Amino acid sequence: MRTSLVAILAVLIVAGCASARPSYIPPPVSEAMTAFAERSWQSDAAALERGRVAMLAHCGQCHGMPSIHEEDQDQWTGTIQKMVKRAAKAGTPIPANDATAITHYILAANATVAK
Ligand code: HEC
Repeated sequence: MRTSLVAILAVLIVAGCASARPSYIPPPVSEAMTAFAERSWQSDAAALERGRVAMLAHCGQCHGMPSIHEEDQDQWTGTIQKMVKRAAKAGTPIPANDATAITHYILAANATVAK
């Protein structure tokens, strides 16, 4: 009896893990993103890469990692400013240069990566 219960539990746990949604990974920096960033802010691939790394470090702390398509182009800047305030209040501040890098990375990715 006990063995079959353990077996059932094991199956449930394994099935649960297999069906769980994998956590979102922000897309790698591409040539299209870099061209967008050069046009928009005279920025470059290295700056976008810093933004992606900062996003990975800061944006999955309080909720799951958000998709670059969770918000539109005209909403993202305001949302990120809101998140920067939340992070400061929570005692895990996002430095201003990281916030700018995250904003540029997300806007460039949002504009160039297919949904
Ligand atoms: C200190 C905690 C905290 C951090 C750090 C944080 N968020 Fe949030 N975020 C929240 C809370 C709280 C909400 C609102 C409730 C929810 O949706 O879970 C939220 C909601 C959101 C939403 C949904 C839209 C909205 O305006 O409510 C998006 C998109 C988002 N966060 C993106 C980000 C990004 C991008 C970062 C990194 C720059 C980030 N978050 C970092 C706490 C945080």
